[in-house]
Formats: sequence, C-alpha cells, structure tokens
Amino acid sequence: MSETRFNLSQNDLPKFWYNIAADSGIAPTPVLHPGTLEPVTPDFLSVLFPMDLIMQEVSSERYIEIPEEVREIYKLWRPTPLIRAVRLEKALGTTAHIYFKYEGASPVGSHKPNTAIPQAFYNKIAGTKALTTETGAGQWGTSLAMACNFFDMALEVYMVKVSFDQKPYRRIFMETFGAQVFASPTDRTNYGRSLLAENPENTGSLGIAISEAVEVAAMSGGTKKYGLGSVLNHVLLHQTVIGEESLKQMDLAGEYPDVVIGCVGGGSNFAGIATPFLRENLKNGQRTRLVAVEPTATPSLTKGVYTFDYGDTAKMAPVVKMHTLGHTFMPPGIHAGGLRYHGMAPMLSGLVNAGLVDAIAVKQRETFEAALMFTRTEGIVPAPESAHAVRAAIDEALDAKAKGEKRVILFNLSGHGHFDMVSYEKYLNDGLEDYEYPAEAVAEAMKDLPQVG
Ligand SMILES: Cc1ncc(COP(=O)(O)O)c(C=O)c1O
Repeated sequence: MSETRFNLSQNDLPKFWYNIAADSGIAPTPVLHPGTLEPVTPDFLSVLFPMDLIMQEVSSERYIEIPEEVREIYKLWRPTPLIRAVRLEKALGTTAHIYFKYEGASPVGSHKPNTAIPQAFYNKIAGTKALTTETGAGQWGTSLAMACNFFDMALEVYMVKVSFDQKPYRRIFMETFGAQVFASPTDRTNYGRSLLAENPENTGSLGIAISEAVEVAAMSGGTKKYGLGSVLNHVLLHQTVIGEESLKQMDLAGEYPDVVIGCVGGGSNFAGIATPFLRENLKNGQRTRLVAVEPTATPSLTKGVYTFDYGDTAKMAPVVKMHTLGHTFMPPGIHAGGLRYHGMAPMLSGLVNAGLVDAIAVKQRETFEAALMFTRTEGIVPAPESAHAVRAAIDEALDAKAKGEKRVILFNLSGHGHFDMVSYEKYLNDGLEDYEYPAEAVAEAMKDLPQVG
C-alpha cells in the first residue's frame, strides 16, 4: 500500500518565518497616511499595532525567528498534514498527482490562527489590554478569539452584518472563546452611526467592518489595538509556516510540485504556501508555477487596477499600492465571505505585477461543483473560499490528463466548511448563481481613488 499522508513531527515545526521581500527584487511601495497622503510614520502605525509587528511589516530580513511561546501554541495543530488526494485523482482519471496541505486541521478550522497567535503574543508583551478586529465569514474572528483567550486579552469583533445573520454558529464560536461580537455597521462608532442614519438596513462589508474596528482602536487612548487577518506584510509572513512545512512534506513524498495553488481574499494563505516555493524558484532554479485563484465576483487581481487606494471604506486605514476594485466596492452576496475584500495584499500585488505569480478567476457554481467532488472523494467539506483552490487544482489535473502529462499539483486547503452549510444547502438546491463583476463598475470606482502624486 502506498503512503498518501506525509506527516512531520512536532520537532519539524519551522523555527523561522520566511520574508519574500528579501528575495523578490521588488522595492516595497510606500504606505501613505489616509489624511495627508504622505508616507506614514511608525508613530501613526503604533496607534494600531505594537512595535514588534510594525518592525516585521517593514522588515527586509530574509528569516524572522518564531518566538518559542508562539511555537508552543502552534504545536496544538502544527505541522498540519499534507495529503495526496488519490481518490480524487482516480475520480478524475488524471495522470496528474494532486497533493493538498490541510490547514483546516487547526482547532478553529482554517489557516488564520497562524497569524492570530503571534499577533496576540506581540500585543500581550507590549501591554495591550484588548484587541479589535473585523470578520467576514468568521474564520478570522474565531482565530483571534482563540488567540486572545490564550493570552488573556479581551477582543471586540465587528462582524459583517450579512454574515452575522447567516452564520450564528460562527458568532457563538467566538463568544465561546470569550470575544464580544457586533453586527457591523454598529451604533458603537461614528462611522457605523453615520451609515445606519443613511440606511438602517445596511448589510455591511469587510471595508466597513475594518473602519469600525480601526476607529475603536484609534479612539481608545492606547489601551486597545487592532488586528488584521490578511493583506499586511506581517500577516503574510506568519503564514509562511504553511509553505515551509509543505517543502519538507513534498520531499517526504519524493516529488516536487509543478504548480502551487491557493485561493486569494487578501492574499495571506496563498502567500503562505507559495512564497517559500517562489524562493526556490528565484534562488535554487526550480520552476514551479504559482497560481492565485479568486472569484469572478470579486476579481481584484484579474480585473482590478494596480494603484494606490484606501484599505477600508471610511478612508481611515492607510493608503497602499495594490490591485483594487476601489474602496467604494460593495460586494455581491457570494458565498465565499472571506474573499469579498476590494483590495489585495500589496506584497502579492507586486509579485503578480512582476509576473512572478499568475492570477485566475473562477465562477461560484463551478467552484461548489469542485467542492462537492472533493467532499465525495476525499471526505473533507472545503470552506467555500478554499473551494476556489480545489476548482483550480481539478482544472490543472484535467488539463494534464488532456495533454497526457504527469503533473504534480499542490494546493492549499485553507479551511473546512463545517460552518458554511447554508451555502452548501443553497448550491444543492440550485439556489446559487454565477456573477461576474463588471469592468464598468471598476472603472467607475476609480474616480474615487486618492490623488497620489
Ligand atoms: C478558509 C479561508 N480561506 C481563505 C480566506 C481568504 O483570506 P486570505 O486570502 O488572506 O488567505 C479566508 C478568509 O476569511 C478563509 O476563511
């Protein structure tokens, strides 16, 4: 019987995070103050983040040591399994080998704790009393709720209202860890109150929830800081444990991937699995294709513009250079809540712009079709976000089959979908529709971009 699971021991847990900025050859783009549009100072950022995270945000060091306290907690679920999906391969009749890294094995069901734990840790040692954050689908909020609970800090979560209503169990999961959860827009912030005065039925967006969480931290006089689950350099950095482990596990499998795939919302799980492989491309002559997959409904990499834009809707978060659909973007109600952000991590945007990473967009129905096939062959129900990577992996395997090639495919299964049954129910009852975000809407939103000289 041949092996299909490639497990590492806890001693193999990475000791360092990998920083692609050291090897990409891409100069970092400035981070601008949302009011003045001048480069921000560490002082501005320190209202929101502890200094250790700010230093990681601007670091060009190749490797950054993972604190022992963080590794101790990572050990609860890391190293995560790397599995060859032989039953899926058989069902597809493909000549390709399909591997997946299973980040849904974390206690809360996704990759997000890889950064929640260090964010809570660095805040704790800096004396922060409470964190604020936003959450869409609830994966990030749950992860930070677990992390704050471990480090004995309070947490306020601003949860996009449509998800708050659709996903009561995610909210209860966060509350079980001791977090306070509010449906955003709320009446707790100036921004939330102004939106509710205009439209009491506002169903919220990730951009709005970020604005509220940032406002609460900024107005707290230094007692509360803010945690972001994606987009920023330090978040992408923390996720590189995924790729570092995968490199060792592919070695155990005796293969090397021709293609590495991940879904992208803000870019963190994709960068986490892909950037260690990009290092091998850049420094050790490997030629792995790296593919970021997004929904056609929120196509920031494939239809957005690479330019400076606000990170949030209320223009309180810094202005960064990224692929964006415009900060005024109101997302369609697709079921991959974690992929509904208007922008993309500046670091990943730079890699796509430089041609080091490919980006594709897939439709909602074909994504759920792939998720169902994966569930019925491998037994794991993917998170709707992760299902975008499953779709792309299946398409690669079918393409290899058509060409009679043996292709080695690795994708990141960033989370399980146990809290996403409403979405699956809709799909099963034929209630999900495809949606392509119109290019005209992107062009229109570009009129509201900040005027950066
Ligand atoms: C399971 C899962 N995968 C992927 C994402 C997208 O985020 P990112 O691109 O930062 O990995 C999310 C976001 O909530 C998620 O919950």
